[in-house]
Amino acid sequence: MRMNSAPGKEILALIREGNYAHPGEEEAIDLTFSSLPNNPLRLVLDIGCGRGGTADYVRRHGWGSVTGIDIDAETLASAQELYPEVTFAVADAGRISELWRSRFELIYLFNAFYAFPDQQQALKEMHSVAQPGATLMIFDYTGRDGSPHDTGSWPESGSDGKYTPFSHQSWTPLHPDHFPEELHRAGWELEQTIDFSTHYLHWYRHLCERIRFNRERITAGYGEDWYKYTSATYENLREAVENGSIGGAVYWARRA
Ligand SMILES: C[S@@+](CC[C@H](N)C(=O)[O-])C[C@H]1O[C@@H](n2cnc3c(N)ncnc32)[C@H](O)[C@@H]1O
Repeated sequence: MRMNSAPGKEILALIREGNYAHPGEEEAIDLTFSSLPNNPLRLVLDIGCGRGGTADYVRRHGWGSVTGIDIDAETLASAQELYPEVTFAVADAGRISELWRSRFELIYLFNAFYAFPDQQQALKEMHSVAQPGATLMIFDYTGRDGSPHDTGSWPESGSDGKYTPFSHQSWTPLHPDHFPEELHRAGWELEQTIDFSTHYLHWYRHLCERIRFNRERITAGYGEDWYKYTSATYENLREAVENGSIGGAVYWARRA
């Protein structure tokens, strides 16, 4: 079981009442993009787009013409069916320059970057597919020393409800002290950071309430083990946000 698998993302969509797998759902997108002038022709790339809800929201609100990519072909097939006005392509964030060169004016990621096994390579690939002067927006988890950043583990739990410290899934939240330098090394200049940790606290408490509220629907559709797994995963994450080892932020950078 993994929350980033196709059934995991389906369950999150059910709980969140929309095809989103990031904290704050539409509120988070609005907070992040509110200062961006509308331009429906802007060429936009959503990396790790999942079920496509964010890509379609961005398109519908006039922020650009969106292409969504994700490594998970099964999830993308549902996204394409749900949102025919968005272009989707199966691609690994570590190899996107095989598909495009110097194309996009805005590249954004909502809680996908933490899952990339080679983040520096992904930043370089984004640089290759961005136009000169393009904008990069990364909305993601943050973590300092003592957080799962050190162990490379995702704070998920097994179906027995026990914390699994070394999961197979990559989990590297952005380190606020190191990330600006990582951006710079890949040819991006950091322009602005907004901390969303207080919002994360509220969003994850609310998400845990909604998981409990949807217990019967999750169990009926996916079985009791999936309910236990989802519940334990997000209770762990809520705890990590409450004790301050995990936070959230958005980083805006420009292609040099
Ligand atoms: C937590 S979900 C977020 C989905 C979407 N951005 C949203 O907010 O609803 C993370 C997504 O990143 C995708 N992903 C993980 N590793 C990837 C990679 N190397 N290349 C492209 N996508 C990847 C996963 O398949 C998953 O759909």
